[in-house]
Amino acid sequence: AQTFKILVLPGDGIGPEVMAEAVKVLKAFETSGRKFELRQELIGGCSIDATGKTVTDEVKQAALDSDAVLFAAVGGPKWDNQRRGLDGPEGGLLQLRKAMDIYANLRPCSSTSPSVSIAKEFSPFRQDVIEGVDFVVVRENCGGAYFGRKVEEETYAMDEWGYSEAEIQRVTRLSAEVALRHDPPWPVISLDKANVLASSRLWRRVVDKTMATEYPQVKLVHQLADSASLILATNPRSLNGVILADNTFGDMISDQAGSICGTLGVLPSASLNGLPEDKTLKTRPYGLYEPTHGSAPTIAGQNIANPVAMILCVALMFRYSLNMEAEAQRVEDAVRKVLDSGSRTPDLGGKAGTIEVGDAIISAL
Ligand code: NAD
Ligand code: IPM
Ligand code: MN
Repeated sequence: AQTFKILVLPGDGIGPEVMAEAVKVLKAFETSGRKFELRQELIGGCSIDATGKTVTDEVKQAALDSDAVLFAAVGGPKWDNQRRGLDGPEGGLLQLRKAMDIYANLRPCSSTSPSVSIAKEFSPFRQDVIEGVDFVVVRENCGGAYFGRKVEEETYAMDEWGYSEAEIQRVTRLSAEVALRHDPPWPVISLDKANVLASSRLWRRVVDKTMATEYPQVKLVHQLADSASLILATNPRSLNGVILADNTFGDMISDQAGSICGTLGVLPSASLNGLPEDKTLKTRPYGLYEPTHGSAPTIAGQNIANPVAMILCVALMFRYSLNMEAEAQRVEDAVRKVLDSGSRTPDLGGKAGTIEVGDAIISAL
């Protein structure tokens, strides 16, 4: 039988609760010809408590040795005043992104896939505004302000926000390849603050050159990141396509995408170091699948967290790491069916628990 090695990182807060449902869904896809070998490890606050480190070298190595990584969420008030930066709980995720060099984070938001359609009557947006919204944020995931030099003193602090040409080139190429997965190709809408930031001016120049020389068939639009925020809240359809953004702007615009759904609880993401079709990769592409949401500490331990984002991560893992497109669509269809049926957690106005929604999705499969 074909065996896939999956590293499972539940983390903190609601992480273990939503991960349990995702693992149930994953196991439903085991057949006589396909097995999932799951290895569960600590990351974030729970790892600090147990090992003194937010992520150990052993866990980083396990990530590199796996076919894919499922990650839920890290962080919480318990650790907020102890350690920050790369040594804090959130730093465990950042260190892992860096160790795997998963430089592109894909965050889809679409009314043709489960995420928005299910939330329709629940969205704070007017129906006519969100109808037909269909975009994917491609966020640069290993550079920029997150990973530059830092100064942290009592009365002064600094985060260096820098990009090299090579870092911008590779994420631009990946965003164009995502655009080309659609017929006709989606436009690439690149966000920056080239009117203010030097790193954004390089960003714009490199994106321009890469797209013009390598992807002339893909339409390219530059949009200032602040105005993109406004457009996302007023006419989100006009951002339909691939939204290419640096680490910081991509973080912000993807949480804002959650507002269209009325909750972050339905938005999955895929962190990749290449698409499966990329022939230049020396290894098979690494993939870490993580919801856009965090550890939601105030709702942890109550069986009310929405497991949908984490379950849709399983679908993205099938699509981008395991060459299981048909199964990915089956997961997405089941999620849509269950949420349409009204089985929803409280963040979507429902009364169902985390476990009930997970069970309903399994039945719908
Ligand atoms: P958050 O995403 O945890 O929560 C934001 C809001 O969304 C809250 O109201 C929360 O209750 C709700 N929410 C999030 N996920 C939900 C789900 N699955 N079901 C229902 N409601 C959900 O962001 P925050 O409150 O700013 O951060 C909390 C902690 O999580 C912080 O320590 C932060 O650093 C961390 N965080 C971790 C990740 C990650 O691990 N990838 C991402 C973001 C934040
Ligand atoms: C996300 C989170 C992380 C980020 C944190 C927890 C490090 O907000 O995945 O969006 O800022 O990248
Ligand atoms: Mn975020």
